[in-house]
Amino acid sequence: MTTQALLNIAYLIAAVTFMTGMKMLGSPKTARKGNLIAAVGMGIAILATIFLHDKQVSGMIYGLIFAAIIIGTFIGWYIAVKVEMTKMPELVSFFNGMGGATAALIGLLEYVHNTDSAYKISMIVAGLLIGSVSFAGSMIAWAKLSGKMRKPVRLPSYNIINTILLLITVALAVYIAVERPASPVMLYVLFALALLYGVMFVLPIGGADMPVVISLLNSFTGLAAAFGGFLYDNMAMLTGGVLVGSAGTILTIAMTKAMNRSLANVIFGGFGDTNVAGGGGDATQGTVKSITPSDAGILLNYANNVIIVPGYGLAVAQAQHAIHELEELLESKGVNVKYAIHPVAGRMPGHMNVLLAEANVDYDKLVDMDDINPQFKNTDVVLVVGANDVVNPAAKTNPGSPIYGMPVLNVEEAKNVIVLKRSMKPGYAGIDNELFYYPKTSMLFGDAKDSITKIINEVKNM
Ligand code: TAP
Repeated sequence: MTTQALLNIAYLIAAVTFMTGMKMLGSPKTARKGNLIAAVGMGIAILATIFLHDKQVSGMIYGLIFAAIIIGTFIGWYIAVKVEMTKMPELVSFFNGMGGATAALIGLLEYVHNTDSAYKISMIVAGLLIGSVSFAGSMIAWAKLSGKMRKPVRLPSYNIINTILLLITVALAVYIAVERPASPVMLYVLFALALLYGVMFVLPIGGADMPVVISLLNSFTGLAAAFGGFLYDNMAMLTGGVLVGSAGTILTIAMTKAMNRSLANVIFGGFGDTNVAGGGGDATQGTVKSITPSDAGILLNYANNVIIVPGYGLAVAQAQHAIHELEELLESKGVNVKYAIHPVAGRMPGHMNVLLAEANVDYDKLVDMDDINPQFKNTDVVLVVGANDVVNPAAKTNPGSPIYGMPVLNVEEAKNVIVLKRSMKPGYAGIDNELFYYPKTSMLFGDAKDSITKIINEVKNM
């Protein structure tokens, strides 16, 4: 068998592992294994490219390649092991930016060697343009999420400025692809313009909308890598790029749908800023009833059916282990406990699933919104743990609300609702929640982990 045939087989194996891994990421039960399988496939593709490619390289180059691989692996491993769950979106953004930068670097390096081929230059220019936008945009997203850049920066008429900048950048890309100038100077100008556009594109978007933007930029990086796959005629790169590109696109659409927003509204609108700026309200008025951990414990202890609604506050408080302990304690006393999972609870897709999986909560106890919503009316107590927008009835009742139309959990249909949060402050959408004023709702103010620990102690003594 020729080395070329071996190389193709290795790429085929890699492509199959990517797809298998991707499929397995669809369920929390198989996700970890799926990730590993795809990573092994990527390892095979990398090693096959290094050793089976027909291009001969010196020992020195091999040394550099392996030094880079070892350093990169160590840094990636270290960061991934150390990162806190709440910092996950910014880490994804950072890693995504690195992918975009790599795609852009390929373009910068390959241009001068390929000016005789219109096809290859088109691939190079497309990969460089999209990769650079993704890199620069991801870095801004990372800075916003890590709190280094707190406020959205909006130039006057920024939408017009950005559109003009985009048109100029695309026009230059088309010019280079058609004319294929021997000197790479124009390509460098394109690189600079694309970086500038990436910055300008993400700068005005509110910090809280970053997860959607990251998902979109993720699809850009996938697309840029796919152009690299076309350039090198490399099936593994192409499949990987297409999978990342399409998955990112589907995720972006799913997120905006679950938030009842259009992508245009995320990119051009200003939603999500209120939270960053401290939150506004829609002047919901009424009496708020608070409850002690002891009374909350009594309600839970004597309930038949309890539904726990986790939200972003669960992640902030790192209360996943405590809530699991409470769930097991209640179950041991004959209470039937489930978790209601809203698709956009938290700040990233699957945030609640990942958190609860970390605490070893049984997957069968996690029930998706559509399946759990009809069950609230037969529920004695709903325990809302650091969730706000995803349980806001205004999404159903108030056409003037920014979240009107967003599907929410029907917690108000239960007999009792206990809300664990620290204050009356709004959540991500920056709006008041009328649920907190309902007669059947009781507020247990404080950090979610502290409150749950107190409830556990009370229930243990009953
Ligand atoms: P939010 O509406 O953001 O509410 C979280 C609540 O947690 C806050 O009201 C906060 O109240 C409370 N909290 C924070 N720290 C706490 C702590 N240590 N202990 C107890 N409570 C704490 O969260 P949600 O209900 O999960 O909704 C998610 C929102 O994010 C939605 O609007 C969604 O559209 C948006 N979003 C989601 C995603 C994805 S993909 N998940 C992406 C982008 C945007 P206090 O400050 O009073 O404690």
